[in-house]
Formats: sequence, C-alpha cells, structure tokens
Amino acid sequence: MFKPSTASSALRAIPSSSRASVSIGARSFHASSRASLATPSETKPAQTKEFKIYRWNPDTPSEKPKLQSYKVDLSQCGPMMLDALIKIKNELDPTLTFRRSCREGICGSCAMNIDGVNTLACLCRIDKDVNKPSKVYPLPHMYIVKDLVPDLTLFYKQYKSIEPFLKNDNPPAQGEFLQTQEDRKKLDGMYECILCACCSTSCPSYWWNQDQYLGPAVLMQAYRWMADSRDSYGAERKEKMQNTMSLYRCHTIFNCSRTCPKGLNPALAIAKMKLEMATE
Ligand code: SF4
Ligand code: SF4
Ligand code: FES
Repeated sequence: MFKPSTASSALRAIPSSSRASVSIGARSFHASSRASLATPSETKPAQTKEFKIYRWNPDTPSEKPKLQSYKVDLSQCGPMMLDALIKIKNELDPTLTFRRSCREGICGSCAMNIDGVNTLACLCRIDKDVNKPSKVYPLPHMYIVKDLVPDLTLFYKQYKSIEPFLKNDNPPAQGEFLQTQEDRKKLDGMYECILCACCSTSCPSYWWNQDQYLGPAVLMQAYRWMADSRDSYGAERKEKMQNTMSLYRCHTIFNCSRTCPKGLNPALAIAKMKLEMATE
C-alpha cells in the first residue's frame, strides 16, 4: 500500500506535467450516451467544472500517484461532492475508487480531503466557482488501498483497544440500566461520532505517532465510556491511558474539532479526560 506523507507532499511527488489535465482514456469518450459529459464542447461552458482527483493503483505499484482531471457539467449533477464522484464513476471512469454508503452523513465511509479539508463528500457542497478546480485526495497520512480509499485497519484496531461497549459486572436485577437525564446528557456530543476518521487524520500528533497515540476519534470514544454512569470500569479505562503516548500526545492544537463534519468537539472530550485524570 502507498502512504503519502501529506496530501501536499503527494502532490509534490507528481511531475508538473501530470498535474495538468490528464486524459481519462478513450474508453470514456466512445459511448454517445455519455457524450454530454465527456465532450466539453457539448456542455454549457459556464457550468463545466474541473475535478482533480488523486489516483493510485496497487496493481501498478511502480507508477507514482497522480492527480487525474475530470470535467463535469454541474447542471447535470447533484449539489454534493459525492454526487460528482458518483457521476464521474458512472459516466466517465469506472476505475475511480472511493467508499460511500449512506449518502447522508451517517456511515462515515466517504471521508476524504476535499480542497484541503478533511470532510464527508456527501455533506460537502460542490464549490460552484467553475474557474477553480476542486482537488480531492484521500485522508492524509494514511496508507492507501486504492485512489481515495485509505486503509483504516490501525484506526479500527485502536478503537477496539478501548473496549467501546458497556462494562459492568453488576447488571441491575430488572435487566435494564437506568440513567438520570442529567447523566444521559453527559454523552451528548460524543455518542454522535460516526468514526469517519476526519479528525484523527487532521491531527499532527496522530500523523507522527499513530502507532502509539490513539488520536482524537478513539480518545473521544474512550471518554464517552468513562463518562457513562452505567459503566463501572472508568478507573480501569483511565489507568490504560496512564502512559506518555496513548493520550498525552495530544497538544491541544484543535485541528480535530475544527475539521469534524458532524460538528463534534473531540479536543474538549480529551481535555475533560486529562482534567479528570489529573484531579482524581
Ligand atoms: S469526532 Fe467527528 S471527525 Fe472525528 S471520527 Fe467522529 S464524526 Fe468523524
Ligand atoms: S487537540 Fe489533540 S487530538 Fe485534536 S488535533 Fe490537537 S493534538 Fe490532535
Ligand atoms: S456516504 Fe455515508 S457519510 Fe457519506
């Protein structure tokens, strides 16, 4: 798998000749039914937008990653970046590879770096400025499976390591854990996380230490279970964080909270965890 150090350094690795418009191959221009999109002369020029998309194919590992250019008529496309990607895949280039599922900001699959920001393609509106190409990269500092698909194996392994489920050795006799409304409210802003990894892959500490530092997404979920009044393993959960790497590599830079496409605040959850661990 290929691992660009950053989206910008991956771009630097691309020869300048490749950064210009790259032909998508004759195949896309053959079918007349596709011509409205594939032939710029038949589109409304004012609405033709260029998308420069990161491409890398594991089947040709000696070939450097490149930005490939596609032109889409925005009058024939939905409003979101995911609409444009789906249109390109369906009508221009079926080899373009990306993840998506729900198309409404719930599954977290379509996380990628769009015009320099980690976000969800299905929640990101296409910039209507047709004079400015949109650049799309995979989430930065991750190994790449193909094109816009990052390898999230380590991310999920880290998530598993915090035991993201209720732990209580004395379940209530009635079989249902009760919780006051006040205690329930403590989970707001954390349970909504969809594990898209936008925050972790925007965190400089995670870029450099992701083999040991858990990163904001996983740390917020760790705190989500520490803060749950029904869970009785808070002390053990905190004890696992008592080392120099798992938690304390967070230097409160706040990239994570700035980038979260769900409007959550993982930096705040991390700060609360640190405070509790310092004062208990
Ligand atoms: S906190 Fe936000 S950015 Fe981070 S994984 Fe959860 S939803 Fe994604
Ligand atoms: S606040 Fe912490 S977790 Fe968030 S980006 Fe900064 S170092 Fe990373
Ligand atoms: S497709 Fe599910 S979050 Fe975008």
